[in-house]
Amino acid sequence: MDRYEIGLNKWEIDTPALVLDLDALERNLAKMATFLQDKPARVRPHSKTHKCPTIAWKQLEAGAIGITCAKLGEAEVMARAGIRDILIANQIIGPTKIRRLVNLAAYSEIMVAVEDAENARQLSEAATAAGVRLRTIIEVEVGMGRCGVEPGEDALPLAREMATLPGLRFEGIMGYEGHTVMIPDMDKRRAAAEEAMARLIETKVALDQDGLPAGIVSAGGSGTYNITGVYPGVTEIQAGSYATMDARYKGVIPEFENALTVVAQVISARGDRAVIDAGLKTMTPEFGVPELHQPAGWALGGQSEEHSSLKRSDGAALRPGDRVEVIPSHGCTTINLHDAYYVTSNERVVAIWPVAGRGQVR
Ligand SMILES: Cc1ncc(COP(=O)(O)O)c(C=O)c1O
Repeated sequence: MDRYEIGLNKWEIDTPALVLDLDALERNLAKMATFLQDKPARVRPHSKTHKCPTIAWKQLEAGAIGITCAKLGEAEVMARAGIRDILIANQIIGPTKIRRLVNLAAYSEIMVAVEDAENARQLSEAATAAGVRLRTIIEVEVGMGRCGVEPGEDALPLAREMATLPGLRFEGIMGYEGHTVMIPDMDKRRAAAEEAMARLIETKVALDQDGLPAGIVSAGGSGTYNITGVYPGVTEIQAGSYATMDARYKGVIPEFENALTVVAQVISARGDRAVIDAGLKTMTPEFGVPELHQPAGWALGGQSEEHSSLKRSDGAALRPGDRVEVIPSHGCTTINLHDAYYVTSNERVVAIWPVAGRGQVR
């Protein structure tokens, strides 16, 4: 994280570098804000994508009601940066983590997902001992096959117990329809997401009728922001990737811009083949080969740890030292490999922002 690189053109910084186009980022945040402006749902962006408190604050400035995290360690990073309203959209299990969680409640409005009565009792006990009341929501399994209670009346016994536990405040429910967010066809994506939301709202109705109103109904990813975000009864969406975007999501929600790239340099060039200094330790492959953005007429091929190969179709010849720009196929895991963003405006590096939540898997 060398500050001497501030003010340089993005093609001059050392490589490989994670580059974030500030103007595109801000347009993405504004686009989400504009979309939700006249809708009942708000956005609580998932910060597991960017892992950066500066971006989280920008989202709050753009109208977000809070921040979502996947891990306790990420929530600690956000709370340390002064962010108060944080949802951990995940299960926090075991005494070590529960102790950290309730301490977080001393200086933030932390909220956590719950699916198990024993876990709820342990959370309540720890919160009572620490003199705090922990905000909790029930996680509902809406079809993804991950965590959560079954939809509908199955949530009632847990909610009834949570409502009586002195250390907890029962706030509502969440259900992430992650199995639907990448469905390429919009009609099919809509049908699948709406089916998932019907399960979540069925749960809300059961709770309402039982006298345990779910004030918060949280769901949604970037691929379903305009489906889940308008589904009646959903109060907030957890979209994350829309801020920085990546090559895979670009096909699903092309209205958001690829603000995130990796700038790398050619270290070997031989006719129609070249090699760059960015491999699997710089750009993750689980969503496919990253997309070469520049130069035109070349494509990215195989990746090894510290190399990726380029193949020429009709581009101009490359030389060692030439810079290339790549769009990661999966932003969330690629960002997690880097210490910092080189933040650019009109191609000039205007700031270097630490990826403070990097590696916070505990
Ligand atoms: C619980 C939860 N909510 C929301 C999201 C949405 O993220 P994205 O905007 O990247 O689709 C995710 C992604 O993994 C998630 O796990």
